[in-house]
Amino acid sequence: MDVYGLIGNPVGHSLSPPMHEAAYEELGIDARYVTFEPPADAGATGVESAATLGVSGLNVTIPFKQDVLDAVEPAPLAERIGAVNTVDFATDPPTGYNTDAVGATRALRDHDVALEGTAVVVGAGGAGRAVAFGLADEGMTVDIANRTEAKAHDLAEEVPDATGHGLDALDELVAAADVLVNCTSVGMKADRSPVPAEALHADLGVLDAVYDPIETRLLRDAAEAGATTVDGAWMLLYQGVEAFERWTGEDAPVEKMNRVLRERL
Ligand code: ATR
Repeated sequence: MDVYGLIGNPVGHSLSPPMHEAAYEELGIDARYVTFEPPADAGATGVESAATLGVSGLNVTIPFKQDVLDAVEPAPLAERIGAVNTVDFATDPPTGYNTDAVGATRALRDHDVALEGTAVVVGAGGAGRAVAFGLADEGMTVDIANRTEAKAHDLAEEVPDATGHGLDALDELVAAADVLVNCTSVGMKADRSPVPAEALHADLGVLDAVYDPIETRLLRDAAEAGATTVDGAWMLLYQGVEAFERWTGEDAPVEKMNRVLRERL
């Protein structure tokens, strides 16, 4: 039996185990997906231990996404993002991927949002970093807007074809944009949006990385403006789909994984 898992602290609330185990069941793969919660300073040690124990693959979450870089050979995108959320132990040293970036781009594509033109990424934390690099990799021009403007400028210096802004620039930026992704926590468990509703328009594809609630204020405002909306569960789904496909080499049963994920959200 193959063992996959998630390493994080805390990991108790994770939706990854049911999502991945549904995929194993659907495809008849003899595997389990378990959670590991090492002490907060033991991310790299945890990955090394997993390799020793013969674990096949690990997802990585807070607070270990940077630390585990010391225990893997990062793929080019993960190296540029500076964070790993998926480890494949089929290689020695294990390979570190960042499937958060691809999770966002696949979620948008799946909803027929063309990854062309200009994208506005709101937020310059871990999620904002991954999404900004992911969209730039697709050839988009990226405007990064963040509450702490200096962080947006710092990130924009690393991302090709990107510019940093404060949140006060959002009206103007969003009006001219093709794609908008919220990578802040604004809207999580609260009826708030980081983007002024008046700026939203029908030619926009809007992804909200927040998935609690599923329909955030931003997505409601975007739907009212006639935009194409993509909720955060799609991003969560596709980062898992991408990890599954890296590990097994098989096409993931996306519909089944999506159904199981949404039943639990
Ligand atoms: P994650 O890894 O999920 O991206 P993070 O690294 O803590 O989490 O980043 C949180 C992001 O949400 C940041 O961009 C943060 O802005 P600051 O850099 O200014 O802190 C943003 N954020 C959090 N609360 C916010 C709020 N009330 N208004 C605007 N932005 C907020």
